[in-house]
Amino acid sequence: MFSKTNKSDAQMSSETVKLDENIPNHIAIIMDGNGRWAQKRHLPRVAGHRQGMDTVKKITISASHLGVKVLTLYAFSTENWKRPSGEVSFLMHLPGDFFDTFVPDLIKHNVRVNVMGYIDQLPDYTQAAVKKAIKDTEKCTGMVLNFALNYGGRSELVTAIQKIAQKVSNDQLRPEDIDETTVDSELMTASLTPYSDPDLLIRTSGEERISNFLLWQIAYSELVFTDVLWPDFTDASLKDCIYQYQQRNRRFGGLK
Ligand code: IPE
Ligand code: IPE
Ligand code: MG
Repeated sequence: MFSKTNKSDAQMSSETVKLDENIPNHIAIIMDGNGRWAQKRHLPRVAGHRQGMDTVKKITISASHLGVKVLTLYAFSTENWKRPSGEVSFLMHLPGDFFDTFVPDLIKHNVRVNVMGYIDQLPDYTQAAVKKAIKDTEKCTGMVLNFALNYGGRSELVTAIQKIAQKVSNDQLRPEDIDETTVDSELMTASLTPYSDPDLLIRTSGEERISNFLLWQIAYSELVFTDVLWPDFTDASLKDCIYQYQQRNRRFGGLK
């Protein structure tokens, strides 16, 4: 199901006061529109990324308060290396800035950091920042804040296929025994089980595409597209997306 929201925050909050218990366990967000947010203000694109980082902090706390179990945020795709080197470099420094200022809050809210993606291809300082955040929050038992960093859905599937093929060639696995669970267990979301598949996928900024995010895992996710640019996305915007999710009838191919 596809939907698009064009409502003001005031309209959103009036609709969302009555969020019931049906909170999605796993919410995944394609955080898009940082560059356009900045361009609208005649600022360099990176100003939008900096503002977007503040949105990440606010939405993390909101989602944790709502009882979300996993919040997956698409922060950098395997295709984003195509951007100008100055912008890529800025984005690679953001995790350090973000975790330096935000880890104490994450611990206070019992939020555990996880990162999925090709981390070993990131600059050393980015790898160090994410590894430290994972370590600093490892004892937290609340929501998992899962960053997709240098992540791509197709690469993830290729890597999974390679691992499965290796097991077959080592005689650890027979081809006829490969099933959906085998594939699930080789994906980067395996550690999030039983919440590895998003219930709700949100994309901001008005674009209605997946851009190589979680291709396998979104088979039955509810998709919500909103025109709000990521730096403008608020607690009320999140609640509006959840409200839309709650109006959906998830059938998973069956009848209800
Ligand atoms: C999303 O905002 C952040 C990243 C992809 C890193 P964009 O930078 O894509 O912003 P727009 O789409 O150009 O406005
Ligand atoms: C998707 O946004 C990636 C992230 C949000 C990290 P993009 O802005 O890179 O996607 P396209 O290029 O518009 O499809
Ligand atoms: Mg974009």
